[in-house]
Amino acid sequence: MSRYDEVREELRGAPKRWLVTGAAGFIGSNLVEQLLRLDQVVAGMDNFSTGKQRNLDEVQSLVTPEQWGRFTFTQGDIRDLECCRTLCRGVDYVLHEAALGSVPRSLEDPITSNDNNVTGSLNMLVAVRDEGVKRLVYAASSSTYGDHPGLPKVEEVIGRPLSPYAVTKYVNELYAEVFSRSYGIQTIGLRYFNVFGPRQDPDGAYAAVIPRWIASLIKGEELFINGTGETSRDFCFVENVVQMNILAATAVDPEAVNQIYNTALNARTSLNELYLLLRERLLPHYGHLAGARPLYRDFRKGDVLHSQADIGKGRRLLGYEPTHTIDQGLDAALQWYIRNVATS
Ligand SMILES: NC(=O)c1ccc[n+]([C@@H]2O[C@H](COP(=O)([O-])OP(=O)(O)OC[C@H]3O[C@@H](n4cnc5c(N)ncnc54)[C@H](O)[C@@H]3O)[C@@H](O)[C@H]2O)c1
Repeated sequence: MSRYDEVREELRGAPKRWLVTGAAGFIGSNLVEQLLRLDQVVAGMDNFSTGKQRNLDEVQSLVTPEQWGRFTFTQGDIRDLECCRTLCRGVDYVLHEAALGSVPRSLEDPITSNDNNVTGSLNMLVAVRDEGVKRLVYAASSSTYGDHPGLPKVEEVIGRPLSPYAVTKYVNELYAEVFSRSYGIQTIGLRYFNVFGPRQDPDGAYAAVIPRWIASLIKGEELFINGTGETSRDFCFVENVVQMNILAATAVDPEAVNQIYNTALNARTSLNELYLLLRERLLPHYGHLAGARPLYRDFRKGDVLHSQADIGKGRRLLGYEPTHTIDQGLDAALQWYIRNVATS
């Protein structure tokens, strides 16, 4: 039995109270879904800046009415300290996902990214401290590795940030560490590496590569690869991320707490490889892809060239065992996009 199996069994037997910020977003809604499936009591909050009501509606359709009855939702903003305090009251664990993602968005509007990601997260830390929450698990980012060329990435060795977004995510880590030291609160930061899966938004200027490409392929639109396509990433299916959050929140080993963990697979896939993986899976459903070819354009500012995580620390201290390879994750994600992306 894996540690994750054990923890899920324990949670089912003794449900906890959870707050998920960014609950209407991609990762947040996947966390809410899994927690409700485990019969937990879950409060969700979101300001719908990038999140969608339809993500919550889908979660409702996937759990039982009894499980959905244990969910409450507040439309609120983490930039509002009082709102954060109110929502943290009586909560055991906070899973903090709310933030403005995207490197290009932060290059265009660094002030808004800073307000949401830095001030908002600082409010959450203050609220967690003041309301006596047992532990805050927060979304950190692989962008914190910045310009450090070493591969695979180990948690202790980072470079200089390459974008305002990366700065905001690194500042979250610094504040969490200082709050643990100064006020004795418990935090765990999870550096996510290119997460993908159901409910990740394929639309808009700041969409992530996998949902954007899947939607473009399905719709027969032009598909662009930035750079030569040899840029590589450690693409991580969202169920592995959910596992890391639940393991981090419930870890009992004191050494495991007040730490940062890579959250990925330890695999490396180039954009050219990714394109082929997606096309070969979609081709049986969409004949128009037979002659499809990607278009190449300039490398994007602020992006790192290669990324691959060492996941030894998570395995050792949290008992993390990823359940989905990139292939298994893509199969699951594609089925969702085939059902949800309109072709007209
Ligand atoms: N998706 C990835 O590959 C990835 C990689 C590294 C880190 N992350 C981090 O993971 C977290 C979740 O990302 P996601 O991919 O699910 O993005 P997402 O945009 O789908 O979810 C973020 C959610 O936060 C909400 N939000 C934003 N600002 C808010 C505010 N001020 N108050 C309340 N809610 C607010 C949005 O409306 C949205 O629902 C973010 O912190 C992101 O930085 C994601």
